[in-house]
Amino acid sequence: MLITFEGIDGCGKSSQAKLIADRLRDQGIETLLVREPGGTALSEQIRSMVLNEKHEMPLSHATELLLFAASRAQLVKEVIEPALKRNAVVVCDRFTDSTIAYQGYGRGLPLAYIRSVNDLATGGLVPDVTFLIDVPLELAIQRRKGMGDDRMESESRLFFTHVLQGYMALAQKHPDRIHVIDGNDSLEDIHHTIYRLVEYERGNELRHASHAATPVVTQPLAETFVGAEGVLVD
Ligand code: TYD
Repeated sequence: MLITFEGIDGCGKSSQAKLIADRLRDQGIETLLVREPGGTALSEQIRSMVLNEKHEMPLSHATELLLFAASRAQLVKEVIEPALKRNAVVVCDRFTDSTIAYQGYGRGLPLAYIRSVNDLATGGLVPDVTFLIDVPLELAIQRRKGMGDDRMESESRLFFTHVLQGYMALAQKHPDRIHVIDGNDSLEDIHHTIYRLVEYERGNELRHASHAATPVVTQPLAETFVGAEGVLVD
């Protein structure tokens, strides 16, 4: 099962990702906690290029998109896919929705490109459940005060307003997958809500597995690269 956490910088999602991963591990469930960008040796190097806290190098919006995607492609191949094959739970701090929200709504790159690049990087892998931790921009800014901003975090309020709009549009588009969680609640209350939803999803997964009468037919690879307009991207 792939669980992803999303939200603007300072929303508290990393703490929640760790809490749920620890809780599942305590129950003896193999659980991996990874973050994006990062999670493999190569992806961590890409992370230092793209977030570049020293603000040394200019990056075009397209370069930025492709670096996030390159980091993800390696993480999926090297870590996430093998873990899911072993039936482990993978908790990922940010995934494809971040790219739609930040590079799409924040930077203004065309969403059709972003969906194609996301599909290429993930081979069409979609999270089973996503928690979008929703906090007002002002609260997120307050929480981040004094924490040294990286390239993305030093963006303007307007940029983050667009990112938030992107997240809300995604939540509306995928109500079955994306759960919007009120980030104003206490750490414990938020964790409790998330834990209940994860248990529910895991129950569903087990029920589906036991009812699967026919073998799963895997799609030919090329079909996973169909872009948003239905055009073969490869
Ligand atoms: P990080 O320090 O991990 O921030 P956070 O703790 O808020 O997740 O930095 C990740 C930054 O990269 C964050 O500002 C969001 C941004 N990002 C994108 O712009 N696009 C992406 O596809 C991903 C994965 C992250």
